[in-house]
Amino acid sequence: MKKGSHQGQFDFDKKERIAELQREIEHHNRLYFEEAAPTISDREYDALYRELQELEKSSPPSPDSPTQRIGGRPLEQFRQVQHLLPMQSLANTYSEKEVLEFINRLQRLLPGEILSFAIEPKVDGVAIALLYENGHLVRAATRGDGIAGDDVTQNILTIAKIPRRLPKPYPEAAEIRGEVFLSRAAFALLNTKREEKGEVLFANPRNAAAGSLKQLDPQIVAARGLEIIFYGCGAWVGKPRFRTHLEALAYLTAAHFPTPPRVWVAESSDPSKEILAAIHELADLRHDFPFETDGAVIKANILQQRDAVGSTAKAPRWAIAFKYEPERAETLLEKITVQVGRTGVITPVAELQPVMVSGSTVSRATLHNQEEIARKDIREGDRVLVEKAGEVIPAIVGVRKDLRTRKQKPFHMPEKCPSCHQKLHRSPGQVAVRCINPQCPAQIQRRLEHFASRGAMDIDGLGEAMIAQLLAAGLVQKIPDIYTLNKEKLLKLERVGEKSAHNLLSAIDRSRNRPLWRLIFGLGILNIGTTAARGLAEKYGSLKALANASTEELQKIEDVGEIVASSIRQFFSQAESQRLIEELERCGVQLADVNGPEKVDDSLAGTTW
Ligand code: IVH
Repeated sequence: MKKGSHQGQFDFDKKERIAELQREIEHHNRLYFEEAAPTISDREYDALYRELQELEKSSPPSPDSPTQRIGGRPLEQFRQVQHLLPMQSLANTYSEKEVLEFINRLQRLLPGEILSFAIEPKVDGVAIALLYENGHLVRAATRGDGIAGDDVTQNILTIAKIPRRLPKPYPEAAEIRGEVFLSRAAFALLNTKREEKGEVLFANPRNAAAGSLKQLDPQIVAARGLEIIFYGCGAWVGKPRFRTHLEALAYLTAAHFPTPPRVWVAESSDPSKEILAAIHELADLRHDFPFETDGAVIKANILQQRDAVGSTAKAPRWAIAFKYEPERAETLLEKITVQVGRTGVITPVAELQPVMVSGSTVSRATLHNQEEIARKDIREGDRVLVEKAGEVIPAIVGVRKDLRTRKQKPFHMPEKCPSCHQKLHRSPGQVAVRCINPQCPAQIQRRLEHFASRGAMDIDGLGEAMIAQLLAAGLVQKIPDIYTLNKEKLLKLERVGEKSAHNLLSAIDRSRNRPLWRLIFGLGILNIGTTAARGLAEKYGSLKALANASTEELQKIEDVGEIVASSIRQFFSQAESQRLIEELERCGVQLADVNGPEKVDDSLAGTTW
């Protein structure tokens, strides 16, 4: 590399890219961990993560970089509990070569020792830690940020197969870890029911399992039919003691814990071949498992060897996940339609001839924007390759240009909004095309959906279909109208009976007292995600105080930069927003946090295990 200004420019570009990647990864962490609604595939996430790791190699990364921390942060509805030992994540790879490197690395770290490996399915669900004290199950917690998670004991107890007791002799404390999942069959049934009720569908079994665990009412959880597989132990005090992972699994199986349906062992003097063979065998077998398996976990079997190699800040050195390439299918791109988002952004969507990919039917895929479509040269009428990457949102990853006839036509963004028919705008230098009519019916619908959504005011029963019905009947137009609904109005709607009207009204009523950050987030201010909303709520304590804050003052808050600050000012300087605040107040919506932020339960913290 040349010296002088080129180098300077290079460093500057690199720093910019690092900051950009950090922000982007944080954003996806939030969607994944807090909202159980990822918008990119695991594969795309891994690519961003790796790029950041690479760039950070040349200088020490900042301690708050997402590569230096374990995960997202815990939610606040449930009691927060600390894990006895951090719940780490796993290093992962799509490359067999890197699996071999992992084996060599362990060999180097443990010179002269015979290694033994266990290979298991990587269950694609939600990580959970059960704590048994003196043989009795005392709690179950989600991973949360790896240090503290949600206490979901009630929900976990809806899974019949979970032993409430350990066999004697009881260890004083035992943490048993596993993965909660929804079987493919239960997932299909759940989505069919949701479709019938006009509710939003879950993208995949993992999201459905995560969403189910987050339900506050265990009755709802019980109806979902969650299942679990245990893959190991965390903190452990007392007897029995295990020498190997396989011994621990045998103990769990004998104690009636569901364990992985197949486990391979590789312990010859050259284990690489056995490990690769196990990975290949699992690649086929996994389709017959009732749960989704996105990879194989390869872990040191001898517990002493695990202790000897230890962990990095994020993941143990003694294990690696080998991930299988996402599956692809070819289908016809019938049409490209456009969708209007809550902030007016217009997104093109591929309407596909339904096709099975990774065990579920795909009929739509997002195309992001015009540039993306042009770059990939995707045309209506093309045969396209669809990938359910990371089994999340389907993406179009290729076009069969070889099969093109003269029928396929390049796509152009419409000039007018498909909902309100006003002219669309594009800000200079930005890819997004938007509809800037605040009265656009599609935007109003999306804004109301956002306000009521799980991540915001969490109004159960006020989903897409219900909002569409309310809008069509002229019962709501703007957010405060939600709080003027009553039984008489609701009963006028089709398919709404006494019971559902009552349920919806009580859900609306409950939302009056949500924490302030949910309200701030729910208002849909441009560029305000949950993290910024939390920061703002903490600093200002009330919506009115926030409304009066100056741009300079706002920028002093962590996570609030120039853009966010000016979005906030812009929002609150509109006369409409002033009216909105007044109306919400009149409707009895709490505009300030009365109890302060939720407390973390640390009764077990500080204890040495
Ligand atoms: S061992 C330090 N074994 O994958 C973590 N994890 O991506 C050691 N997972 O948090 C975990 N199946 O929730 C292990 N057979 C398996 C697994 C498994 C699924 C999850 C686990 C972990 C995540 C990491």
